[in-house]
Amino acid sequence: MDRNAVAAAFAALEAHRVEIASHRVTELFTADPGRFEAFTARLDDLVYDYSKNRLTKATLGHLFDLARAAGVERRRSALFAGEKVNATEGRPALHMALRNFSGKPVLVDGADVMPDVLAERRKVAAFAIKVRDGDIRGARGDIFTDIVNIGIGGSDLGPAMATRALSPYGRPELKTHFVSNVDGADVADVLGGLDPARTLVIVSSKTFTTQETMTNAASARAWVASALGEAAVGDHFAAVSTRLDKVAAFGVKPDRVFGFWDWVGGRYSLWSAIGLSLTIAIGPENFEEFLRGGFDVDEHFQHTPLAQNIPVLMALIGVWHRNIWGFAAQAVIPYDQRLLRFAAYLQQLDMESNGKSVLRDGTPTPRATGPIVFGEPGTNSQHAFFQLLHQGTEVTPVDFLIAAQPTDADEHHHVLLVANCLAQSEALMRGRSEREVREILKAQGLSAARIDELAPHKVFSGDRPSSTLLYRALTPRALGRIVALYEHKVFVQSAIWDINPFDQWGVELGKELCGRLGPLVAEAGADLKGLDGSTAGLISTRNALLAT
Ligand code: F6P
Repeated sequence: MDRNAVAAAFAALEAHRVEIASHRVTELFTADPGRFEAFTARLDDLVYDYSKNRLTKATLGHLFDLARAAGVERRRSALFAGEKVNATEGRPALHMALRNFSGKPVLVDGADVMPDVLAERRKVAAFAIKVRDGDIRGARGDIFTDIVNIGIGGSDLGPAMATRALSPYGRPELKTHFVSNVDGADVADVLGGLDPARTLVIVSSKTFTTQETMTNAASARAWVASALGEAAVGDHFAAVSTRLDKVAAFGVKPDRVFGFWDWVGGRYSLWSAIGLSLTIAIGPENFEEFLRGGFDVDEHFQHTPLAQNIPVLMALIGVWHRNIWGFAAQAVIPYDQRLLRFAAYLQQLDMESNGKSVLRDGTPTPRATGPIVFGEPGTNSQHAFFQLLHQGTEVTPVDFLIAAQPTDADEHHHVLLVANCLAQSEALMRGRSEREVREILKAQGLSAARIDELAPHKVFSGDRPSSTLLYRALTPRALGRIVALYEHKVFVQSAIWDINPFDQWGVELGKELCGRLGPLVAEAGADLKGLDGSTAGLISTRNALLAT
């Protein structure tokens, strides 16, 4: 990366912002009837519309200069070539190998990983088919009706998000549940409604050391053993991990252990055997379609010029908003109830990747990095936090996601859903001026005094940025595309900010302190010396509450 060239590109963008700040997006549409076509990019039936953001061809020119100065294309080549792009952990980041349908090898340390990837995928598929067909059953011969995935972070969010998103591809007689929180209420609430004789538990953990997962797995193991006997445990558990040694110690049968590799980051692991619960839910053929969606985007990302490259455009527009306009957050609003967990999934992908304050060489970042990501499906979010998006003092760019057609829902509902989605992005862009407000209130017959009183409250500034991803339907392939688009978006932004998106040291300190505090919380009367006043005070107060 040429830091001087990057600084110059950022400076050019700053100057350009001043030039276009006085133009409203609605004026840009009036001036250019072809704006929608000019500011959309396509991948098959998926359309990325970014025309409602305050930007012009000149803006894009400056953003592409920035991408080139930051060496985005070189970083992309390094990623796909299997270079150790995750330098602090000394690993490549090759989740793309898990969805590689090119027939070409993918090398890690000179060895092709594809034979192992395909063998593991076949093993997962065979197991999933047997569970779905009732050929693999519980210890008493019962067909499994419930699958419980125990995992957290990437070992939970991806499968949970995708299983919900693709629920129409599942079978009503086979339900999937997810347990993640160390809060015992989570495992108790899920297992409480299930019959152990008909339940298969999948313990999913890359490291097989994560406190939450190991604690929940032990509770689930005790639940099975107490109901069916210790000997039944092997028939009711499967595991997914990179640490096969640790899985063996837990007592899972070897033919129910599925592996992946340390070059798959936790938040990118949905494409691996971590997708076992999803594969059982939707079937291996649909899971392969999901993988193919990811592969579509890998091809698009690698071979499409920057100007039509959707993840590159998503990333650059994000940088334009984050660094040049100073917008701190990014909302993601799927108009799809089945994408209920998409924002949570994306929070880990984006914030665990790009929530960094040092460059790859360890020096402080000169500018802001990853935004705060949040969201909820529309239309529910319209009735929760959209007030702030429309009239709050913070401007928050929004990504809208919407399918052209419902998967198996009512057409009339879907027309209303689409209309709501488009109405929100239109309202954010157009706003409503005080003059318009006054005219409307006057037409309603309000007195001049009442108009003076109400008008300021009914003004919308407009020019609030949003982009829309429109796709035919939320099929497995479409979901694979959407997930991979965001993965590569996050990667491109990390390249521009020159940070490592594949490590997550920020989660370690809390884990370490929890290890130290656990015994102090457990033991009433423990010596709290050395703790800060607040932490010690809260432990003592809790002890006092427990004692009364
Ligand atoms: O939260 C930190 C983290 O390491 C994530 O990156 C990861 O997805 C999650 O914990 C779960 O880790 P594991 O799969 O090893 O249990």
